[in-house]
Amino acid sequence: MHLYGTQSINDRGHLAIGGIDTVDLANTYGTPLIVYDIHLFRERARAFKKTFQAAGINAQVAYASKAFSSIAIYEVAKQEGLSLDVVSGGELYTAVQADFPREKIHFHGNNKSYSEIEFAFDEKIGCIVVDNFLEISIVKEIAESRNQEMDVLIRVTPGIEAHTHDYITTGQEDSKFGFDLKNGQADEAFRQLYNHPFITVLGMHCHIGSQIFETDAFRVAAETLIEKMISWRDNENFICRVLNLGGGFGIRYTEIDNPLSPSEYVEEMANVVLSMTRTFNYPIPEIWIEPGRSLVGDAGTTLYTVGSTKDIPEVRKYVAVDGGMSDNIRPALYGAKYTAVSANRMTEPHSEKVTIAGKCCESGDKLIEEATIAPAIEGDIIATFCTGAYSYSMSSNYNRLPRPAIVFVENGEEQLVVRRETYEDIVRLDLPLQKVKRGGKV
Ligand code: LLP
Repeated sequence: MHLYGTQSINDRGHLAIGGIDTVDLANTYGTPLIVYDIHLFRERARAFKKTFQAAGINAQVAYASKAFSSIAIYEVAKQEGLSLDVVSGGELYTAVQADFPREKIHFHGNNKSYSEIEFAFDEKIGCIVVDNFLEISIVKEIAESRNQEMDVLIRVTPGIEAHTHDYITTGQEDSKFGFDLKNGQADEAFRQLYNHPFITVLGMHCHIGSQIFETDAFRVAAETLIEKMISWRDNENFICRVLNLGGGFGIRYTEIDNPLSPSEYVEEMANVVLSMTRTFNYPIPEIWIEPGRSLVGDAGTTLYTVGSTKDIPEVRKYVAVDGGMSDNIRPALYGAKYTAVSANRMTEPHSEKVTIAGKCCESGDKLIEEATIAPAIEGDIIATFCTGAYSYSMSSNYNRLPRPAIVFVENGEEQLVVRRETYEDIVRLDLPLQKVKRGGKV
């Protein structure tokens, strides 16, 4: 049994996180309940920052908040001095509600609307990561109409796709994001932005994938972008101040995953940047990164209550819990693998192989195909680990299930930070059919 962060087994034989008994949390707040180990979030954030400091490189570590967006997590990110990557007006609005320092907000997205870009200007955010030619024209139009300055990064696709342990380099990348580096689009984007009276090009951005376990792909990405930076210096006399290498640092979902530590990823980036800039006599740029999953993924644990079970002799035993694909779509969508424990029976042998199923009306609603837990009975609390990234943020009301509540725990204290949806919340946007009068008029 692998425990994460501050998880432990307490003297009642229960799973505890941050010194808090998870069975007590389930009793107090109900289930499904997502519990975040805030100490682990802070530890990761500090490890990323510290490694850059040790390498003597100016850096921004931006929390890629698509992984889990809420006012409270933005407040923790703010406390840790992180920057924030938002990808929509909704995430930006959440950041404003958290009073996140605007100059540290970076706005991503491959199809930002005119009004989202206006919102970014209204809030005077730190930078817009421009992604396409339509966006360039909108950013220019808004900047000119308001006489307002805006910093931008140019998102490029370097033709490197990284997946877990492998990466491939391609001539042109088949991606909806960013400007292709090799076919001239990135140069054209640069020409359209450079020398604009209100727009400052800070530098370049790329994001090469997610759940990456090796440093090679990051090294090749950094080298590829720095080569372009050098060509812009030599041909256009432009110096990039920022090199943003995105997120994608892997975490351990199951025993087959072997992630590196934050420092190992960051040291490799720092080494490449320091050595290439020295070789080509280029001023060392700031390095920005955007970890999402590696800040919140294994900090999150979902608690469920066991309901019905179904034993099909010689086939499998289903143990059904009170959530499912509505609060974690990743197993159904990506075939993602998780582990689980019986949070109220941690000291009993986890000897029963079962399939943990959700309660949604869909056969594919299985959270864990092969879980090993203590023999389950109704009322047991099942904890699935590593559910902090892309679960709540991708949740739905499928079957009109209310979304779970979220609790932060740290140093023996707990705090409810997202309340459970109620049935009233479920219908809050619904409008009843209006009575149609004779003649079809309403
Ligand atoms: N920066 C950019 C520009 C990104 O597109 C992403 C993730 C990140 C940073 C953060 O990547 P991370 O460190 O979290 O791997 N829903 C999928 C993951 C989608 C990732 C999208 N972009 C999943 O559940 O695995």
